[in-house]
Amino acid sequence: MNAWLSDRPLPLVIAHRGASAHAPENTLAAFRLAMEQGADGAELDVMCCASGEVVVIHDDTVDRTTNGRGRVSALSLRALKQLDAGAGERIPTLSEVLTATERPGTPFLLNIELKPNAAPRDQLEAKVVDLVRQHACTERVLFSSFNPLIVRRLARLAPEVPRAILYFSGMPKLLRALVIALAGAHEFQHPDHRLVVPEHVQRLRAIGKRVNTWTVNTLEDALRVGRAGVAGIIGDSPSLLRASVEALGLKIERG
Ligand code: G3P
Ligand code: MG
Repeated sequence: MNAWLSDRPLPLVIAHRGASAHAPENTLAAFRLAMEQGADGAELDVMCCASGEVVVIHDDTVDRTTNGRGRVSALSLRALKQLDAGAGERIPTLSEVLTATERPGTPFLLNIELKPNAAPRDQLEAKVVDLVRQHACTERVLFSSFNPLIVRRLARLAPEVPRAILYFSGMPKLLRALVIALAGAHEFQHPDHRLVVPEHVQRLRAIGKRVNTWTVNTLEDALRVGRAGVAGIIGDSPSLLRASVEALGLKIERG
């Protein structure tokens, strides 16, 4: 069974873009640090570069996170690998992250977020599915996207891998409902943490959906969403989230 779907007494701790509070986001250093800080898994953003490889980066351009400039879709992997993504780190490929996060025993979970602006000709979904299967990671991966059509295509390409639809508090309610409907079958919903109130989580649980929420960076918010009943908490600091989840566990034990 896919590890995201196991029932657990406490929420999962998921490192947003790796342990991005303490290492350059979406780099191997950030994913390794997340493992060291006791995260159950990590969230990462993927898109295709000009030479076709699937690379791990958040923005459409390299301007904010590296010492270079330009659109990821206009730069080859060779060009991207020249750039410093912070502290001497390089922009990793998805394949490199899948390898770096392998470990014996309890699998390190990955939430692969496919960026919404992928051009259909990129075949991003098919490439991601192929890589996840080649690396035998289908049991530790959860796919997500803000783009409901990507979520829908993933269901067709890889029905064995669970999927999540992303949405945020700034979206008009009607648009949110439309996006969720267009996404088709999905196991998880990923609202931002402002939308997480107990009634919302309970309503979703009643229709068989689990909730992971983002980006939770304070103890207060982590306790609030944890009490609301989320399955996973996505935040920049796994150590902060781990401490919050432990505090939540103590409260549950003491009643
Ligand atoms: O997947 C959760 C979160 O990462 C979604 O927003 O913009 O940080 O990718 P963003
Ligand atoms: Mg993301």
